[in-house]
Amino acid sequence: MSLLRRIEDPKKSVRYEPAAPAPPAEPPRLPPAPREGTGRDLSQVSQELKARVQAKLIAEMDPKMDLSDTAQVRRTIEELFNAILDQENVVLVRGDRQRLFEQIAADILGYGPIEPLLADETVSEIMVNGPKQVYIERGGRIEKTPIVFQDDQHVMRIIDRIISPLGRRCDESQPMVDARLPDGSRVNAIIPPLCLNGPTITIRKFARRPLMVDDLIRLGTLTQETADFLQACVRARLNIIVSGGTGSGKTTLLNVLSSFIPPEERIITIEDAAELQLRQEHVITLEARPANIEGKGRVTIRDLVVNALRMRPDRIVIGECRSAEALDMLQAMNTGHDGSLTTLHSNSPRDTLARLETMVLMAGMDLPLRAIREQIASAIDLIVHQERMRDGSRRVVNITEVVGMEGEVIVTQDLFAFEQTGYDEGRVQGELRPTGIRPRFTPRLEAANIFLPPTLFGYERSLFR
Ligand SMILES: Nc1ncnc2c1ncn2[C@@H]1O[C@H](COP(=O)(O)OP(=O)(O)OP(=O)(O)O)[C@@H](O)[C@H]1O
Ligand SMILES: [Mg+2]
Repeated sequence: MSLLRRIEDPKKSVRYEPAAPAPPAEPPRLPPAPREGTGRDLSQVSQELKARVQAKLIAEMDPKMDLSDTAQVRRTIEELFNAILDQENVVLVRGDRQRLFEQIAADILGYGPIEPLLADETVSEIMVNGPKQVYIERGGRIEKTPIVFQDDQHVMRIIDRIISPLGRRCDESQPMVDARLPDGSRVNAIIPPLCLNGPTITIRKFARRPLMVDDLIRLGTLTQETADFLQACVRARLNIIVSGGTGSGKTTLLNVLSSFIPPEERIITIEDAAELQLRQEHVITLEARPANIEGKGRVTIRDLVVNALRMRPDRIVIGECRSAEALDMLQAMNTGHDGSLTTLHSNSPRDTLARLETMVLMAGMDLPLRAIREQIASAIDLIVHQERMRDGSRRVVNITEVVGMEGEVIVTQDLFAFEQTGYDEGRVQGELRPTGIRPRFTPRLEAANIFLPPTLFGYERSLFR
């Protein structure tokens, strides 16, 4: 376990340095046991007691103990715990004793103070900013919790607990890690000296029941009409990009769009950390892999896209396009693997196209810009852009068709756009409305036997009869 020692430095307020390894033979020096009834704050007494018992436990526990056999480890901890309390002559009422044991066991076996947040289904995100600040996101809004860790080391222990079963570590040589909890939640940890507030953990909780299309309609992310429209587009095998800012709900919407893929098609999903939860039966899930401790064995999204093309896919769903894989994806879309879906981080539909260009350039093929734009314009049919609004709600704000090239530029047209009508009682008011433009790809929908009423796009039937 890597522990960092905090050093006060007059020039820089705080500096971190690797702690010298503790001499193994000598047990940690413990402060004298406080006696009950000394008039000191009881919670402080129990904090000290907990720290002391925990330090002893860690010193006495077999470091090679297999932590995966939870029941066995729990029994061992309980025996040691009782022995230490006896040794220290501490008398606790049964409730306190049990609570103390549970807290200590949670630190060693579980995820310590954030354990209850992980169990709470209404919490969608957990943010530990060093030991003294823990924030959560609930119902789209950020809240501060009263939860605190004892110190930096305590947070480090929890980070270690999360990533060590995955054969990873987080220390000065590797101060940033991405990992996943056994339940699928996505974890990022970054520690000093890169992070000045202390070891910081961000957890995107895995939704046991992912949001489905009806939820998105209920939450105001989509309207029934736009949901029907997107379903038609997926069925007609359009290539669609879901774009938006961080946490704007891109992966959730991609999951919903993927649910529209007919069950008889062979779907290959490619992700950094498997987040998609498809209901179809015929799904192959591929997951990229970071390099191991020796810096070997890295498998990128791009490698997986290339491999997926040899797996007879009907559909390729890429969790997120971040770099060079964009080129392979566009080529796949342009060579008969249509109906592919992906997400991309951007600020607007136009920005989505600009970022795609940059990503293709990252592939290092030295293609002329015009050729890249042509690839993009012919591959991408639709951009669905989503935003996290200031009231915490997530909304689709543009559904934009990529029409083609005109001279050097890619031409797009909005088919639906969000119109904000006000801001009432802390809630954004407004609706995703049709712009009155009929998509140029309508014949492709019709070829797939999908006929949408013209009113869906906001124009009167009578005008077009
Ligand atoms: N339409 C929605 N309405 C309300 N909450 C949503 C909606 N879509 C997603 N969320 C919630 O917002 C959080 C982020 O969702 P999601 O992972 O889909 O976003 P993302 O854009 O893919 O994020 P990232 O940029 O980190 O990949 C999740 O907790 C999810 O439950
Ligand atoms: Mg995502």
